[in-house]
Amino acid sequence: MKKLRIEGKHELTGTIRISGAKNSSVALIPAALLASETVTICNVPEITDTDNLCNMLEFLGATVRRASESVVIDPKTLENKFIPEVYTKKLRASYYFMGALLGKYKHVELSLPGGCSIGARPINLHLKGFEALGAKVTNEKNKYTVEAKELRGANIYLDIASVGATINIMLAAVKAKGTTIIDNAAKEPEIVNVATFLNLMGAKITGAGTSTIKIEGVDRLGKCFHEVIPDRIEAGTYTIIAALCGHNLKIDNVIPEHLDSLLRKLEEMGVELEVGSDYIIVLDRKKELKPTNIKTAVYPGFATDLQQPFTVLLTIANGKSKVEETIWENRFMHIPYLNKLGADITVKNRTATVQGPTELKGCEVVATDLRAGAAMVAAALLAEGKTTITNAEHILRGYEQIVEKLKAVGAKIVIKEI
Ligand code: EPU
Repeated sequence: MKKLRIEGKHELTGTIRISGAKNSSVALIPAALLASETVTICNVPEITDTDNLCNMLEFLGATVRRASESVVIDPKTLENKFIPEVYTKKLRASYYFMGALLGKYKHVELSLPGGCSIGARPINLHLKGFEALGAKVTNEKNKYTVEAKELRGANIYLDIASVGATINIMLAAVKAKGTTIIDNAAKEPEIVNVATFLNLMGAKITGAGTSTIKIEGVDRLGKCFHEVIPDRIEAGTYTIIAALCGHNLKIDNVIPEHLDSLLRKLEEMGVELEVGSDYIIVLDRKKELKPTNIKTAVYPGFATDLQQPFTVLLTIANGKSKVEETIWENRFMHIPYLNKLGADITVKNRTATVQGPTELKGCEVVATDLRAGAAMVAAALLAEGKTTITNAEHILRGYEQIVEKLKAVGAKIVIKEI
């Protein structure tokens, strides 16, 4: 167990450099096994989720070499075997091994995926896609078996524009016979990043980033060198932190278009920003911020993964704000802890009402999941006095070197093993 200790109310200034995107990397690492030769993925963040996926590849017999920010994966010695729960339950993205192994061997056996408890998190759309490609799915005693005599291209309509299902179906279809069309596909930048990677390996995917993706099956995928895009959620989290307690704090190595919905909301509240081609500077913390309402939505809507840290900013706005969560039914677990710190927030169904401004005061809180943990860090930096955040390992799953990055800009933060 790890905990973070943060002393709040220190002004943050300087530069925070954003790492590669977690939600791209966690798909790219399993996708690499589709290649017949060595692939290199650079700008992979060193976080627990990517470590766990590399361990899964090694468990299957691949050679994985980590050299600073690059991961070099040689799948030539890979063996297709059952992946037990000890690996899969560590993170949600272990489900990408389903699509990748199915695409390569037409057979996969693995335990149920784990991940943050933010909702029921069904995978029915992933399975529906595999079945449309000709696979048979069985689920017995915590174990999925997905197998096909032959994978054939198909027209697949997703009832929900699911990120995971879109990527998993791309992985399964990339070597199928014929053409696959995914309609109502998710449009997140991470999907474009994964499609680019597969295309560099020799796949024929068009339309990634739109709601219709076309995949023409190919026989073989070869070596490639690929770069992970900057993490828009990490960038958004630090931009929010900068709006809470920054002074000329620069968030560097970002793709600002990926953060449009957040930046528009910050401007609406009165946060002063300078946006460059690959950076965002939060110029100063305004004395008075206006309240606003947000409703989470699929990309390019307001990202659910930023909803929890953004709620912290609403506690200092002058008036009543509303936060509607439409993606995950259980993503308000941070609210009781924000109230413990002194916020005034009520939750009814899927909407939280934040009455600001309130003064936060340090106390002991819990990181109930990854982004709730990020919200606790933001709140602790804002609060008067000392805050202890337990279950901090959730935070380390998604934020590379969070302690070092915050310390470097003036935060008083330490991590302790308990
Ligand atoms: N859904 C279904 N059936 C499915 C798949 C999804 O009903 O088969 C529903 C989900 O229950 C949810 C909605 O569709 O209500 C969207 O789920 P989606 O599949 O898009 O989410 P995901 O792929 O499991 C990824 C990110 C999440 C992020 C969501 C939404 C990864 C590894 N995870 O999850 O990131 O919140 O997309 O943008 O890419 C995080 O980073 O903290 C995180 C939770």
